[in-house]
Amino acid sequence: MQEKKDIYILGIESSCDETSASIVRNGIEEIATVISTQIDIHKDFGGVVPEIASRHHVKNITIVLEECLEKANMTMEQIDAIAITYGPGLIGSLLIGLEAAKTLSFIYNKPLIPVHHIAGHIYANSLVKELTFPLLALVVSGGHTEIIEMKNHYQFNKLGGTLDDAIGECYDKVARVIELEYPGGPKLDKMAMTGKCSYKLPIPLKDDSYNFSFSGLKSAVINLSHNEQQRGRELNKEDLAASFQKVAIESIITKLRKAIIEKKVNNLIVAGGVAANQGLRKELLDMANELNVNLSIPPVKYCTDNAAMIAAAGYYAYLDGRRADLTLNSKSQDELN
Ligand code: KG4
Ligand code: ZN
Repeated sequence: MQEKKDIYILGIESSCDETSASIVRNGIEEIATVISTQIDIHKDFGGVVPEIASRHHVKNITIVLEECLEKANMTMEQIDAIAITYGPGLIGSLLIGLEAAKTLSFIYNKPLIPVHHIAGHIYANSLVKELTFPLLALVVSGGHTEIIEMKNHYQFNKLGGTLDDAIGECYDKVARVIELEYPGGPKLDKMAMTGKCSYKLPIPLKDDSYNFSFSGLKSAVINLSHNEQQRGRELNKEDLAASFQKVAIESIITKLRKAIIEKKVNNLIVAGGVAANQGLRKELLDMANELNVNLSIPPVKYCTDNAAMIAAAGYYAYLDGRRADLTLNSKSQDELN
């Protein structure tokens, strides 16, 4: 019997403030990854400044690519295809990775695989354990809050998503209210561990859909903070963090539980930066135990933006026959399909 040939995918990610390249074998084995993060640069501005992010991607992309090949001890000739995040994300940032991918594809005559950023987050799980179908994917990041049903590789059916702010965006904005440095999500998570749920906040969008809404919760936190100030009362930051985290997580868990029961799936994967949240991880674990569901949450290094997840997704997109040519353009918004 002929042995199956290994497929090496070079993934490139530059949709926000991380410039990253990675080589993954057969969609499951990370060979080498390099990530250059700009967090320290954007911190002073309280969020990512798109123009500055693009400039840093330009500065970093070649270095990151060279370092990645060096770390893997491989040459471009040994790569089978190049997977690139074409969107969604910051358009100027996306373009830098895309141009690099197109250039390499052209020079080395390698197939170019377009990867949706959220497909990347989902396939971060494939780097830990091969995906088992049917499954539900909970995507919780700075730009997305979605429940996606997958009956097979690269078949995405969105059951619901946020109607306004994404959960990560909401975490970052609430973190600003309690004067935490960007990105505030992880700091708020830590702070919540020491607080009590003493502030009453509204549970968002209590309806029968699989959709979410976080802008009302965000406004409620801002109003509460103003009211306390006006009354000359000091805000208990730990308690506010704990109260916010409880309600935000409860909203996600309620909808997810409903989807698991109604869709009768027993595989659940979690993806995106907010999957690093300790409070969310605990609640997901409890729910998975109770409903007897196999739960996969990637380690923190695969939760936030990285190119290994893009290369992993790229492998399955490659098997699915997805290809792009040099006319491929970046998209700041695009549905996952
Ligand atoms: O997936 P990601 O790296 O970028 C996007 O594609 O959006 O997610 C970044 C988001 C940020 O909003 C960050 O504050 C949030 O994930 N985040 C967290 C935690 N770690 C990262 N939010 C809450 N708790 C955390 N531990
Ligand atoms: Zn992301």
